[in-house]
Order: sequence, then structure tokens, then C-alpha cells
Amino acid sequence: VPMHLPWIDAINALKKQRGAVIMAHSYQSPEIFHGVADITGDSLGLAQAAADCDADLIVVCGVHFMAESAKILAPNKTVLIPDLEAGCSLASSITAADVLALRAQYPGVPVVSYANTSAAVKAQSDVICTSANAVQVVESLGVPKVIFLPDEFLGRHVARQTRVELVLWHGRCEVHEKFTAQQARHAREQFDAKLVAHPECSPEVLAEADFVGSTTAMGKWLERERPARVAMITECSMADNLRAQFPATQFIKPCNLCPHMQRITLQNIYACLRDLRHAIEIPAEVGARARAALQRMLAVGR
Ligand code: 13P
Ligand code: SF4
Repeated sequence: VPMHLPWIDAINALKKQRGAVIMAHSYQSPEIFHGVADITGDSLGLAQAAADCDADLIVVCGVHFMAESAKILAPNKTVLIPDLEAGCSLASSITAADVLALRAQYPGVPVVSYANTSAAVKAQSDVICTSANAVQVVESLGVPKVIFLPDEFLGRHVARQTRVELVLWHGRCEVHEKFTAQQARHAREQFDAKLVAHPECSPEVLAEADFVGSTTAMGKWLERERPARVAMITECSMADNLRAQFPATQFIKPCNLCPHMQRITLQNIYACLRDLRHAIEIPAEVGARARAALQRMLAVGR
């Protein structure tokens, strides 16, 4: 996109000068994802890459909890986010105090928290999970009952695949909850499209899907299946970013954009590198506890 080119060039020059690495989530706009990112991936992949990369300065193009996860796993590096207001309806649906109240209500029941939570919530959790490993993480605890938070729809999807009883919270992804079963059926019936959905969608939508998986799993499914037409029932920048990789596949809308992801722009990425702001800071004790919960997940499997 030509109008973006001056910004892309300026960012890439400044990035080099600063010795910074730019990481972008799959839901970032194509000009960011393809134009300036050194590393792309899902939220956990980015956090692991932050810990593994050589650079001491990392810019996370994604939402706040993703930058926090990077800082949790790379506490000695400077982690910047271009806009501190880039939030997430799941992460903001629950506080550390809510987790403590749940623990008081269900004494001895372990807490499994989805990656889409604040560092403070992770610090009060026994173990973290992603949409890719939630069933394994829940079962790894070897107990009959688990508190699973904050995504109600992901929780219901996991509950269908395990005999472990799940105590759920009422968090929702404001982007994925908007998709309807009728939109899914329309894509299949009108366009003969395969349906691939993220587990943050409602149970009615997931029931229509040919494949349900995390952002990474959806990409791998496309690589395996190479469908002629597909509707990606997830944040729609993902389809925009995959289009280049799968030129023979037609991507059918419906499209919902995440307003929080959209807060990150080429302009504020440039300002972020120029002014070295906004640095993610996590209190040492919170960081250490959150790191332990993340590492317990990594021991079970990605
Ligand atoms: P991933 O953990 O798959 O990157 O998903 C994050 C997210 O925000 C989904 O809506
Ligand atoms: Fe949060 Fe949903 Fe946006 Fe992902 S798409 S960052 S879960 S609000």
C-alpha cells in the first residue's frame, strides 16, 4: 500500500538504529504485519520469542496483555507497546481480587487462566493456558474440578472435551461473540466455503465449523487442507495477513475487527521507537508469580 511506504521505511530505519525487534500479532493490520514486523505469531509465540531473541529492546504490536506476557518471560528487557490503551474485553473482565474471591468460594480448587488476562490475574493463577492447549492443561492437574477463566465460550468448548468439571467466569471476546451461526451458514451455503472458527466464538457458531482452533492452529489447518474457499470466523486482519501465503484460496467475509488491535498504527509505532515509550512495568513479585504460572503451562506443552 503506497501511502504507507514512507512510514514503513522510517520505522525500519529507526528500528535498526535502536537495535529493536518488532513483534506483531496475527490480528495486526497487513502494513504492520508484513511491513515492519521482525517476528509474527500468536500471543504466546510472541512472548516466547521475546525471551529468546537477542535484542534488549522489543516493541509489541498487539494488545496490552500480550506486551505484559513478553515482559513476564523477558523481565530484563525493555518491552514497549505503542498504545497503552490497547486493551482486551477478556482481560478486563476479571481482576486479581475476583480470582481471590473465586478461590474463597471454591477452596482448594485450582485456577487455570487463559493467556488473555492481566499479569496481576496470572499471578493469582495456578497455571496459564492458550486456546491450543486448554484441554491438556486442565487435565494435567489430575483433579475433578477446576476454575477456568475468564472466557465463558472457550470454557464451554473445553468442557465438552473433558470430564473435568469447570467453574466458569462470564468473560467474552467482544469481537468473536459478534459472529452468528447464521453468518457461518450463509458463508457455507452461498460460497461453498469451509468454516474455520476461533474457540472464543459462541457454541452455536462453533457447532457449524469444520475446524475450531487457535490462531496458529487455524493457519496450520489452511496449510494442510488448502481449501478453495474459506471463511475465517475470527478477527479479520488474520485473513488479510494469510491471503499472501495462500493465493489459491478465496477468503470469504464475515469480518469483525478488534478495536483494541486497531489502536496500533504505523504512526504510533514510529513514535514508540522515537520516544522509547510506553514501557511495560510489572512489580517484581507479580512478575515472578505470573512467570511460574506460565512456565507450568509450558511444561505441559504449547
Ligand atoms: P492467540 O492467543 O491465539 O494469539 O489469540 C489471542 C486473541 O486475542 C484471540 O482473540
Ligand atoms: Fe481481546 Fe477479542 Fe481483541 Fe483478542 S480479539 S484482543 S480476545 S478483544
